[in-house]
Amino acid sequence: MEKTLEDIQTYLCWYNQVYGSDLYIDGELSAVNLAVEPDQQIRAVNLSSSKAQQQIIDQFSPELKQFYDQIHTCQKCDLGKTRKHFVFGAGNPNADIMFIGEAPGRDEDEQGIPFVGRAGKLLDKMLAAIGLHRSDIFIANVLKCRPPQNRDPLPDEILHCEPYLKKQLEIIQPKVLVALGRIAGQVLLKRTDSLSVLRQEPLLYEKTPLIVTYHPAALLRNPQWKQNAWIDLKKIKKIT
Ligand code: URA
Repeated sequence: MEKTLEDIQTYLCWYNQVYGSDLYIDGELSAVNLAVEPDQQIRAVNLSSSKAQQQIIDQFSPELKQFYDQIHTCQKCDLGKTRKHFVFGAGNPNADIMFIGEAPGRDEDEQGIPFVGRAGKLLDKMLAAIGLHRSDIFIANVLKCRPPQNRDPLPDEILHCEPYLKKQLEIIQPKVLVALGRIAGQVLLKRTDSLSVLRQEPLLYEKTPLIVTYHPAALLRNPQWKQNAWIDLKKIKKIT
């Protein structure tokens, strides 16, 4: 019985990560709220985070899954020694839009899933504001492992990890890229400009349109930037 309950909790957590709290029946848009209290969800995620992560990975295309299998034990830099989970990415492997963050934080390291902490909750709201849901996008980070105390990624960490992101882009082939924050933008573009410069320009990553906008964690710290973030969100909406 305990095992069955745990399986149900794991499934609901996985479902919640992928589809949010709306329950879709037979693909219809008649949404029924799962009515699971947020802290219950968090407790359940913590119960079996590796299982929830595995269920996300099981939804990947064979190519993406094979790539995950190849790299998830990476020890190319010291972050491999301190991480709890390798945070590969999550979402729709056939997505036209890919969001790219900086690196996992504490919650992401605990659960193995990107953007599940406070910044992730804000990201969900930002997506909803332009009619998108996690299940419409793929989301990954420049670094797959958490830097201690959430410090900025070091150059050698980026050097080792960026090829993983490039390969993900090659497999997923998104039509639009959204870099969340200065670091993701700088890494993709190989530029050192500030976020305020990068977010004003029409940009391409190789041949793919790229929008650089605020990292949701920065928006939590600086709510006065939300108005500009909305301008960027409208750009995403327009282009997709
Ligand atoms: N910040 C990021 O850049 N990525 C995450 O996955 C979480 C927080």
